[in-house]
Amino acid sequence: MSGTAPTPRTILDLLRVTTSWFAERGIESARLDAECLLAAALGVERVRLYLDFEKPVTPDERDRFRELVRRRGVDRVPVAQILGRKEFWSLSLAVSPAVLVPRPETETLVQAALDLLPDRDGEARVLDVGTGSGAVALAIASERGKARITATDVSPDALEIARANADELGMADRIELLEGDLYGPVAGRSFDLVVSNPPYLAEAERSGLAPELAHEPDRALFGGEEGLDVLAALVEEAPGLLAAGGALALELAPAQAPRVADWCRAAGLLEVTQYRDLAERPRVVSARLPAVSG
Ligand SMILES: C[S@@+](CC[C@H](N)C(=O)[O-])C[C@H]1O[C@@H](n2cnc3c(N)ncnc32)[C@H](O)[C@@H]1O
Repeated sequence: MSGTAPTPRTILDLLRVTTSWFAERGIESARLDAECLLAAALGVERVRLYLDFEKPVTPDERDRFRELVRRRGVDRVPVAQILGRKEFWSLSLAVSPAVLVPRPETETLVQAALDLLPDRDGEARVLDVGTGSGAVALAIASERGKARITATDVSPDALEIARANADELGMADRIELLEGDLYGPVAGRSFDLVVSNPPYLAEAERSGLAPELAHEPDRALFGGEEGLDVLAALVEEAPGLLAAGGALALELAPAQAPRVADWCRAAGLLEVTQYRDLAERPRVVSARLPAVSG
């Protein structure tokens, strides 16, 4: 049967061969990636593969799969970029080489934002700086139906993807998308919550990074010499942008958390809080502008 066949013939054969080839090449999620790509090549849901393990694969299907496997294993393109889709906060989002593929740890930022906006029906003004695919803005919009959300990015190509995602999810009328640097596009306005997952990798990290990161925009990843350039600007200028009692929540690398927390205090923000990701690493720092009294 399949074990003696000279070339893989069934779904299970293909999965086995591809999984071990990916693993040999150092791809951590080898089996999952093989399944996602095979499901795409066959035009079925991933769960279908499990029901059809012994089903033979046609030569056309095999050719399609082989090309996807080459892009993943040789070119090291992330699966999400190959498929053009990524799940985030149970939303299915379009992605392209113009945006960062939304990461699971960024759900910590969404959780912090929801904690900072406890009123489910509140009409809070929310700003997402560096929205990329729109992941964070759309996740917040999906949970806070009356929030008024503005999302910005320096990249017009990223904003196009964010717009497509907002359209597809039926949220286009709830999200204002603006192009520009840092708080520039919203100068003179104020917000109840400002969130950002800015580029925060340090230059020194560049050489040791996984090859997959070469397929994401430099500007989405690197934040200057120590990775702190955008974070520093966002904290420093936050008091001028936050409404009284408004909050700031920033994603960062775990080692950056103490410094960013100190900057928040130095900027006059209170209630400085760290949120941990699923791996228990500090991943988000939040802080609040004092509410004006009297
Ligand atoms: C790490 S990605 C985050 C994307 C998305 N928010 C997410 O969490 O998946 C950072 C984003 O910030 C944008 N960006 C970088 N520098 C910026 C700046 N100075 N002002 C506004 N956006 C910036 C990049 O284009 C990129 O889309």
